[in-house]
Amino acid sequence: MSSIDVAALLAQFRTALAAAQAPDQLEAVRRAHAGKKSPLKGALKNLRSIPPDQRKAAAQAINDARATVEAELAAAASVVAARAMDKRLEAEQMDLSMPGLALPRGARHPLTDVERRCLDVMRRLGFKLVDGPEVELPYYNFDALNIPEHHPARDLQDTFYVDNGMVLRTHTTSVQARELSKKPTLPFRIVSMGRVYRNEAVDATHLAMFHQFEGIWVEEGLTFAHLKGVLAFIVEALYGPGRLRFKPKYYPYTEPSVGVDLACAQCDTAGCHACHGAGWITILGAGMIHPKLLIQFGYDPDKVSGIAFGLGTTRMAAQKVGLDTLRPLYDQELPLLHALFRGER
Ligand code: DAH
Repeated sequence: MSSIDVAALLAQFRTALAAAQAPDQLEAVRRAHAGKKSPLKGALKNLRSIPPDQRKAAAQAINDARATVEAELAAAASVVAARAMDKRLEAEQMDLSMPGLALPRGARHPLTDVERRCLDVMRRLGFKLVDGPEVELPYYNFDALNIPEHHPARDLQDTFYVDNGMVLRTHTTSVQARELSKKPTLPFRIVSMGRVYRNEAVDATHLAMFHQFEGIWVEEGLTFAHLKGVLAFIVEALYGPGRLRFKPKYYPYTEPSVGVDLACAQCDTAGCHACHGAGWITILGAGMIHPKLLIQFGYDPDKVSGIAFGLGTTRMAAQKVGLDTLRPLYDQELPLLHALFRGER
């Protein structure tokens, strides 16, 4: 080709460009008209075959044409891309008025909730939290609490025996014995909480594993009034005023001892399934630490006294959410528990 018809090449390019609707067609046009093998590129390579006096003008014309081709390709590319986006948006249409997926609202486990509330009250009263082992020496679980080997009180709290002579603790009161045997300086105020075990026949209000919360306060001059005050403070913080009842009870490690009942939240003392018709549910045992124990741990019972209490947090949690059996608290019936917490049952 001694001279090239730039105008004809541009016309061909424009015809092809006008027909290109999709990105792949556009790419084909680009390759044909602006690629390495395009007529315009070929014309540039062949400039030498053009008479020298026309060469400069020809080169200028070819370069102008190339610039035009590039510019028109870019413009067409954005039009094609916009059209492709319109198509996609139409296909993926969103209905903004459609209701979203409802996620069930979570809540703290009722037991954790009760434990935290108790802890919070005790912290305000100046008690310190300590831990104790669940696999315990029989000494701390029984003997040190004035429950010798053949004492009938051991039968009331039969437990599981581990091969090496240890037992699964039957109450958090074992922590009391452990801590007092370290002969702490007075005043001494601690709480402890966690799992305890009993060899129980499982029913609506008894389980072989449940949770307790224990507190002791040892100091000169403590009276039963202090005990009553602390217990009322805890129970009222969790269930409101006027819902507890004190009754005499026996524990080998306290004298006098008391059992405390909570007015059944289900029936408000009328009597129902949850409280076995009694109207009240025993949620804690307490008393003044037995003088025998004080002497055993090195304190003078004429000067020093102590108050002690063990709360059944499992029963308290069941009462808090209105369960009439304890098992759902441990059976992972979490949707049920969450519904109870939201007040939907
Ligand atoms: N340990 C008792 C129980 O498991 C509860 C208890 C009673 C704890 C009297 C105490 C107490 O600290 O003084 O039923």
